Parts: sequence; structure tokens; C-alpha cells
Amino acid sequence: MQNFDVVVIGGGPGGYVAAIRAAQLGFKTACVDGYVRNGKYSLGGTCLNVGCIPSKALLQSSENYAELTHSFAEHGISCDNPQIDIKKMLARKEDIVSKNANGISFLFKKNKITEIHGWASFKTAEGGKYILSIDDKGAQQEISATQVIVATGSNSRHLPQIATDNLNILDNEGALDLTATPKELCVIGAGVIGLEMGSVWSRVGANVTVLEVADKFLPVADEQASKELHKNLIKQGLLIKNSVKIGEIVNADKNVTINYEHNGEQFSLVADKLLVSIGRVPNTNGLNVDAVGLKLDERGFVVVDADCRTNLPNVWAIGDVVRGPMLAHKASEEGVIVAERMAGQHPHFDFNTVPWVIYTNPELAWVGKTEQQLVAEGVKFKKGVSSFMANGRALGLGNSVGFVKVLADEETDRILGVHMVGPFVSELISEAVVAMEFMASSEDLARIIHAHPSLSEVTHEAALACDKRQLHG
Ligand code: FAD
Ligand code: NAI
Repeated sequence: MQNFDVVVIGGGPGGYVAAIRAAQLGFKTACVDGYVRNGKYSLGGTCLNVGCIPSKALLQSSENYAELTHSFAEHGISCDNPQIDIKKMLARKEDIVSKNANGISFLFKKNKITEIHGWASFKTAEGGKYILSIDDKGAQQEISATQVIVATGSNSRHLPQIATDNLNILDNEGALDLTATPKELCVIGAGVIGLEMGSVWSRVGANVTVLEVADKFLPVADEQASKELHKNLIKQGLLIKNSVKIGEIVNADKNVTINYEHNGEQFSLVADKLLVSIGRVPNTNGLNVDAVGLKLDERGFVVVDADCRTNLPNVWAIGDVVRGPMLAHKASEEGVIVAERMAGQHPHFDFNTVPWVIYTNPELAWVGKTEQQLVAEGVKFKKGVSSFMANGRALGLGNSVGFVKVLADEETDRILGVHMVGPFVSELISEAVVAMEFMASSEDLARIIHAHPSLSEVTHEAALACDKRQLHG
């Protein structure tokens, strides 16, 4: 039986990064992953295979098409009868995914990490080691490990009333693989996946209706920012209904009928495709946790402390399979931190500085507390808001909707949260993350020189506005 210092179960952004860091720190490391894409084992987990990366590839292609059909004319650029070839758009996405998956295998070789294909489960714990069984398409093997990192990620949550077939009733996998634009797309769940994938298919011609159970749009984000995004998505043609109660769903061969209640009225929507994006559930079913007594919570998440320690000695868990936001960069950072803790180091993870980005148009990004959270916590704060409307770079880009808002402690001026809606805020948010990591004040941000003309000047102006000394507002 092969023995390792560290075995990581799961090769997503949590697991593969943990494996690399563990190997860098001198541990004899293996990573086991069972995900199969197009008949081949493919590292990278949800994020690379059916999540972050393919969705952003499609968002870019569809955005380019939307620009060509709606925005390029104002630049004096026109073209007759623009077309989009959906199959080619998908082939490009596949190419990006394969390149990245091969890149992870390359990194494993470079760091001398053993890549093991198949599904891992706990068999037993003996003599201070954990024995894991691996099922590689029916072929069985066992390996042992002194330390185990569970990084098995998550899967789509399904509606109880209808099965996902990824033909008519889609989850993220099906929504990323449609070979033609549906005429009518219904999306259940106005969360991150629903809005991003709804945007992709709306931009290439689908009529998109988004049905959401909550009474508020995107309550996880700052209210002013969600309102701005909502306004723009509606303008783009997405029909978004909140406070909806989903009833019976009928999957006929050619279409899907979704019955629902909204404002006391009954509706029946016939769609070509239905995307169900109502959150995700942790992958702990196949781990045989009872064999070793690994503790799960009532929802199936592995129970961990602040440092990702489970209830078992030398067993750690990270990423989507544990508490906290289901974000790739959160999973990766937990992977680094666990590897370093195994090596006796004392790194720290600050949940308050995990950035969030929603890749719609405009993009929405934030870090730290929302205004609503600060009010609820009774924190006295000041705010500075500056719009992209007058920013020269944004105007040049032809994308000047949205704003940046900086929230700072009224007394100490320490930045407590930054909220952005607008062009490339997925990139701009990093400055706010750095500022918050360094416990900067809004004055610190206001005194930093920002290049002109650049979108980052809006962040600068928002920081100045905290002290009512905005120069261009
Ligand atoms: P995963 O990426 O889920 O990886 C877990 C891996 O473990 C998988 O390969 C799984 O097959 C494997 N596995 C499970 N059980 C076993 C087992 N028993 N044995 C062996 N292997 C096993 N996050 C962002 O930060 N930014 C984004 O833009 C973003 N976009 C997304 C878009 C979509 C459509 C989706 C669905 C998600 C998106 N996410 C995004 C979320 C992100 O994908 C997850 O937070 C991230 O992948 C979690 O990483 P992980 O390593 O914990 O788990
Ligand atoms: P989500 O939690 O973002 O949104 C789910 C939405 O569905 C919620 O608004 C919820 O109220 C609603 N809902 C739940 N049950 C419902 C029902 N029965 N009827 C109608 N609405 C219902 O989950 P989503 O969009 O599935 O994404 C999963 C996770 O993946 C996210 O939490 C996010 O962390 C991650 N992700 C991150 C991205 C990014 O960082 N850009 C992109 C895509 C996903």
C-alpha cells in the first residue's frame, strides 16, 4: 500500500492548491479526484470544469456579441447581419477548460505530487494513519495517509418536485453546455449562477424569466448596489420576479411548464429550458464518514473550527464542503492555510476580507460589511459614493453605469466595506481588499495617487467623498 504524509481528497481550487502548498512545504503528497469530463479524468473541480472558468468564457463571448449588436454602432463600427455560432462559442470554452486542467496536471508533476484518479472514501484509521479506498472506474486500491484534507466541494441543489436531466431541466452543467440558444429560458433562483447564466443566454437572444422565492433582489449584497444591478438587468431585458412560490413543473419532451404563484396570482410559464440554480449542497455522501467518525452538520457539511480542523486528529476540511461562502478563492486560501498549519505555521484567514464578484454587466463586487449589516450591528459609519458616469475612462469604454461606495468607521475612519457596481469592478475590488487587509482608513485611500484616466479614479473619488472633499462630484 502506498503511504503519504498528506492525501487531499478533491482536485478543485481548494484541493489542488492545498496539495501544491503541502508539497512545497516538504510533505509527500497525493491528490485524489474522481471528476470525469468528456470521458477523461479532469482536475480543477467544479470551478474549472463546470463553474468559474467556463461561465466566464461564455460571459465574455456573449458580452462581445451584445457589444457588437448593441454598442459598437456608437463607436462608428457597424456590420451587416451579425451572427453568433453557439457551437463555436462552446468549443472555445472547452479549449480554455482543457488547457487549464492540463496546467494543473503539469503543476502536480512539477511539485512531485502523486495524481490519483477515482473516488476516495475512508476505510479505517489504524496506527495513527488513515486508510482510504479508491474506486477508479471499478478498479480498487487502498492508500494510507498521516494527514487527510477533505476538499470534495459541492453539487447543485435540486428542486424536490422535478428531476434534473440536463436536457430540459438544467443545473450549472447543462446551462454551460446548451448547443443552441433557447427561445424561452426560465431560471429558478436569482442568485449568482442564475444571474450570470441568465445573462449569457439573454445576450445571445433568449427571453429570460428569473423566478426568485426571496422578497428582495440579491439580499447578500449591499442594497444600493443590488438595486443598481437590478435596474440594469431589467434594462437588458431580463424579467425578474421576486416573492415567487414555485408549484408543479412538467417536463414534456419539447418544453417545460413551470407553474408558480406571484403576488397572489397563478402563472404558468412554458419555456424551452429551465435552469434550476437554487444553491449548492456539500459532497460528503460518498466519503463513508462513519467508518472513521468524521462529524457532519445537519446539512451534510463537514464540521470544522476556524482553522479548518475537523473533529478527527490530522483530518482537515476546506472549500465548499465546509461553512463559509462557496467561492473558489476562499477554498484556495483555506488550502494554503491548512498546509501551512500542518507544517507548524500560524497563518490567519479573515472572512471579512474575502471579495465577492458577480460577473454580470455591470459587474457587482464587494468586500467587507454592507450598509445594512453596519446598521444592524449599530456601528456608526460615514460613506462616500462616486459614480462612473463622469469618469473619462468609463465614458471612453462606453460603459459608465454604476458607482463605488466606501464605508468607513465614523470615529476611526477605518474602512469597513467597499461596494462597487460598474465596468471591471472584478479587478478594481482588489485595491479595496488590500486596503482592508492593511486596515487602511478612507483617508489612506484618498491620499493614494491613482492613474489618470482610469476606472480606479472612481474608487479614489469615493474615498475622498467619505470626508466630503470629492474633487469631481
Ligand atoms: P470543487 O471545485 O467542487 O472540487 C471538488 C472536487 O472533488 C471535484 O472535482 C469533485 O468531483 C471531487 N470529489 C468529490 N468527492 C470526491 C471523492 N469522494 N473522491 C474524489 N474526488 C471527489 N466561485 C468563484 O470564486 N468565482 C466564480 O466566478 C465562480 N463561478 C462559478 C460558476 C458556477 C456555474 C458554479 C457552479 C460555481 C462557481 N463558483 C465560483 C464557485 C466555485 O466553483 C466553488 O466555490 C469552488 O469550485 C469550490 O472549490 P472546492 O475545491 O471546494 O470544490
Ligand atoms: P445562490 O445561493 O447564489 O442563489 C440561490 C438563489 O435561489 C437564492 O436567491 C435563493 O433565495 C433562491 N431559491 C432557493 N430556493 C428557491 C426556490 N425553491 N424557488 C425560487 N428561488 C429559490 O446559489 P447559486 O446561484 O445556485 O450559486 C451557488 C454558489 O456558487 C453561490 O453561493 C456562489 O457562492 C457560487 N458562485 C459564485 C459565483 C461568483 O463568485 N461569481 C458565480 C456562480 C456561483
